[in-house]
Amino acid sequence: MNSKTFLITGGAGFIGSAVVRELIQNTAHKVVNVDKLTYAGNLESLASVEASERYTFVQADICDAAAMQQLFAQHQPDVVMHLAAESHVDRSIDGPAEFIQTNVVGTAVLLEAARSYWKKLQEQDTAKAESFRFHHISTDEVYGDLEGTDGLFTEETSYAPSSPYSASKASSDHLVRAWQRTYGLPTLVTNCSNNYGPFHFPEKLIPLMILNALAGKPLPVYGDGQQIRDWLYVEDHARALIKVATEGQVGETYNIGGHNEKANLTVVETLCDLLQDLVPKETSYRDLITFVTDRPGHDVRYAIDASKIERELGWVPEETFETGLRKTVQWYLANETWWKRVQDGSYQGQRLGTNS
Ligand SMILES: NC(=O)c1ccc[n+]([C@@H]2O[C@H](COP(=O)([O-])OP(=O)(O)OC[C@H]3O[C@@H](n4cnc5c(N)ncnc54)[C@H](O)[C@@H]3O)[C@@H](O)[C@H]2O)c1
Repeated sequence: MNSKTFLITGGAGFIGSAVVRELIQNTAHKVVNVDKLTYAGNLESLASVEASERYTFVQADICDAAAMQQLFAQHQPDVVMHLAAESHVDRSIDGPAEFIQTNVVGTAVLLEAARSYWKKLQEQDTAKAESFRFHHISTDEVYGDLEGTDGLFTEETSYAPSSPYSASKASSDHLVRAWQRTYGLPTLVTNCSNNYGPFHFPEKLIPLMILNALAGKPLPVYGDGQQIRDWLYVEDHARALIKVATEGQVGETYNIGGHNEKANLTVVETLCDLLQDLVPKETSYRDLITFVTDRPGHDVRYAIDASKIERELGWVPEETFETGLRKTVQWYLANETWWKRVQDGSYQGQRLGTNS
């Protein structure tokens, strides 16, 4: 296989680390991982690849223009996969400024660094300039929410973000498309549904519920728990992203989803039943379910039409919700050191994003 250099932003995060592990373990490509290491970045998620000669880590902020220009000049990437972001909706309600800074300003800084690097390539190495790609990783939350139980987000759905997080991601998507249209920068955008799987920071629904249940703590379900999300196993997402970055059509958008629409309450109940099977106890884990005040502006339903990526690039998820969720619970049971250290850090499971 032709070995390329991938510049991954946010590679110490949940999805970024899955992309880095996939690239190092299952391809011949090189990876330069640039990450600021915010509370969400964790180099322990990369322990399995850090010794590889094809892997380099650089600690830097994507908002730092000089550092980004230096990165491009030094590493001469063939592909940029941009995942660095502030990613938690509840935190965006408590403090939107950081979301605007990293997700909007940071993306603009990175686009400009990529553009000036790509312009030089056009003068010095036309073949490399032609195959250069800038892949921006985004979310289905930019589409707002769907009413009723029918209807799916397609690549043509209008943007209608509801939270500071999704509005900042929508802004960054617009910037990426504008840099393609105005400057011809070879960009691709993907919008994916909710991910779950190993190495997920325990402020998000699935890991929070697993760890609270194991500790015998209440399982806080927002509102009536009937908000529907479309779940995708993180390693399936990583494989889809690499396919888009290497085989996608420049200028195109691809929606990525797992065809797993579930109400949050159903997810929590399924987790309780899985735990009962794997770590049996006398009383049901379901007894720990506690309904709490809903998130302000909480979207009701997301669901992705992933037929374009299936049809055009031949990607389909390998995991069903049942197999992926079982693997996830088993991973948390086997990797206590990883999550204990995260819990000893900045986040101990407290409620965020109430706007109170
Ligand atoms: N988690 C999901 O379900 C989901 C779904 C669809 C799309 N996405 C998108 O995928 C991307 C990755 O999401 P995730 O869940 O892995 O997020 P995450 O919060 O787990 O990781 C984000 C990473 O970015 C790094 N980072 C943050 N600010 C930075 C900065 N200014 N400079 C450099 N690095 C910085 C953090 O240190 C962290 O390692 C995000 O862009 C997110 O919007 C996430």
